[in-house]
Amino acid sequence: MEHYFMKTKKYIIANWKMNLGLAQTVSLAKEFKKKFAGFNRGEVAVCPTVLALTETAEILKGSGIKLGAQNVFWEDKGAYTGEISADMLVEAGCRYVILGHSERRKHLFENYEEIHKKIRAVVETEKLTPVVCIGESLEEKKSDRRDFVLVDQLQQALSGIDVFGEQEIIIAYEPIWAIGTGTAIEPAEAEYAHKIIKLALNDLFGMRVNNKNFRIIYGGSINPKNVKGFVNLENMDGLLVGGASLQADEFYKIAKAITKQ
Ligand code: PGA
Repeated sequence: MEHYFMKTKKYIIANWKMNLGLAQTVSLAKEFKKKFAGFNRGEVAVCPTVLALTETAEILKGSGIKLGAQNVFWEDKGAYTGEISADMLVEAGCRYVILGHSERRKHLFENYEEIHKKIRAVVETEKLTPVVCIGESLEEKKSDRRDFVLVDQLQQALSGIDVFGEQEIIIAYEPIWAIGTGTAIEPAEAEYAHKIIKLALNDLFGMRVNNKNFRIIYGGSINPKNVKGFVNLENMDGLLVGGASLQADEFYKIAKAITKQ
């Protein structure tokens, strides 16, 4: 029964990227808290700039909204200038951490070998859920390599990771060509990609662990209008939202729509 509930729970994660400073984050977090008071239809999380994590954690106390970070480093501590460890994120009040976002892969040349080390460090805390981003570029899509790319990214990111107990791992399918464009992928295409991901996870972890511990969410230009097409798709456990999450009202509409049964 518990698994049934867990499986049907939807995740709606706001990625505020580097769009807001401390004061703006604080004010948006307050708006979110108000807007989502009493919302119990799914798991809502916000991922602000690292600068605002602790203040946001304070604001979110007493609400159901969880806190997430946008990145982590794989070592525990030491001489790693500019980096933040998984334990430090836990201490700041985080429950989630986005890993391997395509913007980091593009601008900071992050690769799946590094993402793998980050996932390992995050899972070892037993207190954080990684939101692992995968997705094909436009070129890869055009040359019909999407399926291969998705499976390859998953293998590189997750092979050899031990998944125990209640540990959750969220895979965010984010076709790079749909992010920040205003046009989401066709829902049927997302459903197809999620099926590929599901099958690849079955191969890597077996069906039992996959069903219990893994979730698959979609990200890329979701807004209150197009979200309707993503409701009740197979293997669609939620959404990672960028642009539209910068307005409490828009994000609330998205959360309400995707959690409609
Ligand atoms: P977008 O961003 O909703 O603005 O396309 C999604 C993401 O990058 O996670």
